Amino acid sequence: MSVVLVGLPGSGKSTVGRHVARLMNLQFVDADTEIERQLGTSIRVHFEQYGEQSFRDHEQQVIAELCARPDLVVATGGGAVLREANRAQIKRSGHHVVYLRATPDDLARRLRHDTQRPLLQGVDPLKRLRDLFAERDPFYREVADFGIDTGRTSVHTLANLVAMQL
Ligand code: S3P
Repeated sequence: MSVVLVGLPGSGKSTVGRHVARLMNLQFVDADTEIERQLGTSIRVHFEQYGEQSFRDHEQQVIAELCARPDLVVATGGGAVLREANRAQIKRSGHHVVYLRATPDDLARRLRHDTQRPLLQGVDPLKRLRDLFAERDPFYREVADFGIDTGRTSVHTLANLVAMQL
């Protein structure tokens, strides 16, 4: 069994995913870390040098690889649902897909010191997160088996809530 976590940047996919993996005795993989390992550089630098579409091509390849593996907890990047091919891949995988929901206000608060996410640099983060939410929330709902509101709930509680529903 594998679990795929989707949601906006800052929704807690990696931190909650690590805890879920521990609870369920599964291996945890962060798709962004895997992309950076394959690229040999950070996503931020890759975006600067080659642009977003090149990053999305690598992301698509890594999503396909991870969807094919059993017994994993995968934290996807927030934009992994943008391409129809990725959504189809995630749905076809037969894995449990969980949407970690958060409001743009909560996300902006959590990410106020972030310097690593190219889509949030040099813009008003709250406005950008509202736009990302409007664009992506339907996609997260489309691929997910169920959603969990993160709010101010602790990582431990969220991980238990996820594990309980699998
Ligand atoms: C992105 C989110 C990031 C990372 C990249 C693009 C996005 O992942 O994949 O910077 O488009 O929302 P997180 O959701 O882990 O921040």
